Amino acid sequence: MEGKEPTRARLAILASGSGSNAEAIMAHFADHPAVEVAWVGSNRKGAGVLERAERHGVPASTFSRQAMQEGELLRELAERRIDWVALAGFLLQVPAEVVDVYTGRMVNIHPALLPAYGGPGMYGHHVHEAVKAAGEPRSGLTVHWVTEQYDEGAIVFQAEVDLDPADDADQIAQKVLQLEHAYYPSVLEGLIAGWAERLPDGQPKSGT
Ligand code: GRF
Repeated sequence: MEGKEPTRARLAILASGSGSNAEAIMAHFADHPAVEVAWVGSNRKGAGVLERAERHGVPASTFSRQAMQEGELLRELAERRIDWVALAGFLLQVPAEVVDVYTGRMVNIHPALLPAYGGPGMYGHHVHEAVKAAGEPRSGLTVHWVTEQYDEGAIVFQAEVDLDPADDADQIAQKVLQLEHAYYPSVLEGLIAGWAERLPDGQPKSGT
C-alpha cells in the first residue's frame, strides 16, 4: 500500500425540512479530499432532506425531540465520529451537551442579516414576511456559531442581496436561498480547513 490516506474531516448536517442547503453541501463535498459529509440527521420523518441524502449516498436517520433531549443526538454524533456539524434549516434547539462538545465546530445558517430578524419565532417564512413588512432594501444570509440561544452565536459570515420593492416574501425567500446555496458550502469548507490546519499533526481527529 502506498503511503497513508489522509483522514477527511467528518461533517454532519442537521435539517428539518426540504434540505436544499443540505443538498448544496453534499454536492460540494462529494469526492472532496478534506471533508466528507458523514451523516444527515433530521427530527422529521419524511423530511425532504432524507431523500436528498439517499440520492447522494449519505447515511441519514431521524430522531425525536425527546430522544434528542435524552442524549441520542450526542450519541449518534459520537458513534459516527463527527468532527463538524452544520445546521441547515434545523428547527429544534440543540441541547446544551451537544453545544458544549461542538463549540467552535458547529454553525447555523439564518436567512437574514442578523442581529435583525432573528431569535425565537424567526424562522422560515416568518423571517421573509417580516423583512417584507419592514420594507427593507436588502436582505441576506448569516452563518453563525451555534450557542444555546437561538441565533445569538458570533457571526462568521454574511452576504447581502438587494431587494426590489415589488418582491413579495416568496421572492425574497428565493433570492436569499440562492445566496445560501452559493455561499454556505464554501464557508464551511473554509472553516473546516482553518480548523484542520490548527490541529497538531494537521489531521482531523474524528470524534474528539
Ligand atoms: C434556509 O433558508 C435556512 O437559512 C433556514 O431554513 C431554510 C432551509 O431551507 N435556516 P432548506 O431546507 O435548506 O431548503
